[in-house]
Amino acid sequence: MSTDYNPTPHVIPEGENATPLGVVGGDCTESEKLIIVMCGLPATGKTHIANRIVRYLSFFLDIPTKIFNVGDYRRKLHGAQLPANFFDHSNEEFMAKRLQACDMALKDLMDFMKQDGVRVGVLDSTNSNHGRRSHIRDVLKSLECKIVVLESICDKEEVVESNIRNIHLNTPDYKGVDAATAFKDFQKRREKYLDVYEPVDNSDGSHIKIINNETFVVYNVRGYLPQKVVHFVMNLHLLPREFYLSRHGQSEYNLVGKIGGDSGLTEAGLEYARRLADFAKDVVATKVVVDEKTGEERREVRPARLWTSTLRRTKETAQFIKQESVTFKWDNNDEGNPSVKWIQFKGRARRNLDELYAGVCDGLTYQEIKEKFPEEFARRQENKLTYRYPRGESYMDVTLRLEQIVLDIERTREPILIVAHQGIHRLLYAYFMGLPREEAPFVSIPLNTVIELRPHAYGCEEKRYVLLSKEEMLKDGQDEPITSMPMQEIADRANKRALSSQPSDIDPMNPPSF
Ligand code: F6P
Repeated sequence: MSTDYNPTPHVIPEGENATPLGVVGGDCTESEKLIIVMCGLPATGKTHIANRIVRYLSFFLDIPTKIFNVGDYRRKLHGAQLPANFFDHSNEEFMAKRLQACDMALKDLMDFMKQDGVRVGVLDSTNSNHGRRSHIRDVLKSLECKIVVLESICDKEEVVESNIRNIHLNTPDYKGVDAATAFKDFQKRREKYLDVYEPVDNSDGSHIKIINNETFVVYNVRGYLPQKVVHFVMNLHLLPREFYLSRHGQSEYNLVGKIGGDSGLTEAGLEYARRLADFAKDVVATKVVVDEKTGEERREVRPARLWTSTLRRTKETAQFIKQESVTFKWDNNDEGNPSVKWIQFKGRARRNLDELYAGVCDGLTYQEIKEKFPEEFARRQENKLTYRYPRGESYMDVTLRLEQIVLDIERTREPILIVAHQGIHRLLYAYFMGLPREEAPFVSIPLNTVIELRPHAYGCEEKRYVLLSKEEMLKDGQDEPITSMPMQEIADRANKRALSSQPSDIDPMNPPSF
């Protein structure tokens, strides 16, 4: 708003223009388009890598992304349950059928890439020899797009086996087939590819090679978007793991319905903090190992991390969590450094995790905001994602500061307990569960509940642990007569989807309309 003393004010865009790529995506030019051609034997984690890349680019850089999985086209054209023989490279008829599926995927990929603006398309298939890869380059050469081949090599038997088990559970190829039969068949299929596999080399052009998630080769990769991808995949690991999101215990402000501030915990909040300390020890820092022969369960201590925000209420929530010194082995094969001293839950307070700052509304109740700043209140109802509190932040602003947190979560192998705030956890949850950004501000992240998330190749599983029931507390501060969540329908849908679906079902290009 202009005033006498400031006739030409600096206006930061909100609403539709709140996320210009120049702000969110660094210096990505209007026409930058990138195609990633995946490459690798079956069960080397390609789909997992592809899913995570597109999630990252669409959520944090606001870039339209889409995966074209050749397996989906093969199933559409030739049916789902095909014998391992179908993947025999010496069989001309089957080879022609497979090429047909690849070309169909390429055609759709090209149509997608031809649309205006920055975009990223991923061709997800084995593309296991030079012949197939140069065919793909030939077909794509009419487009003005950068092409990067991303090869995943994995020769660790136990990792391949665990990948195969995961594939069995998630692909329609083995629907209704028992685990042992599926496992054998998939191994046969893999051998067919092994016969003809040719690793990527410089003749394939720009490429990234990931070898056992230990060695990375980056060849001739230039430009903003390709470099973003390099940085992201170097932070990624595909090992099974989980992390835990918890809001702080009930704060003094929660009790009276005030937002923001830096208050301490109530009695109920302290009780939650005590229970969270037990949870941290018994669940977060404990690994349950099942003896393969006897089926007996054994509990082992595992190294665990703790992050809080810098605000009082999260630090107080973490105060009873014991910091113990343990010794364990790194998994980086460094024989010279076999054991490491580790302090369990050595807290790290991170400003990026501080709650969305409500600016001039900090410390008010929603009712008071409505009375004092009716226009602001109404504007927030219109677009909760991009609305920025005067002198404060919007959910979009917070998204920017969470990019680093997400990269840290992606690369961390130990379980992390993250004690933060409602707005922060909504965004982290939406990122990992594959929800459209618009739904993030409405996700239910209740007090007194720990949310366990386990990302894997085909999505992310969640489990909620209620440590203190609603009856055990007085009030959670969100039960105001006028809440900040007017679009109940969106909230319900977000929660329903979060509980029931896999992120891979969600096409970021076609988010559901409300
Ligand atoms: O009420 C608790 C709280 O964490 C506030 O501090 C914060 O402003 C609010 O939740 C975020 O929720 P919403 O975006 O729905 O207002």
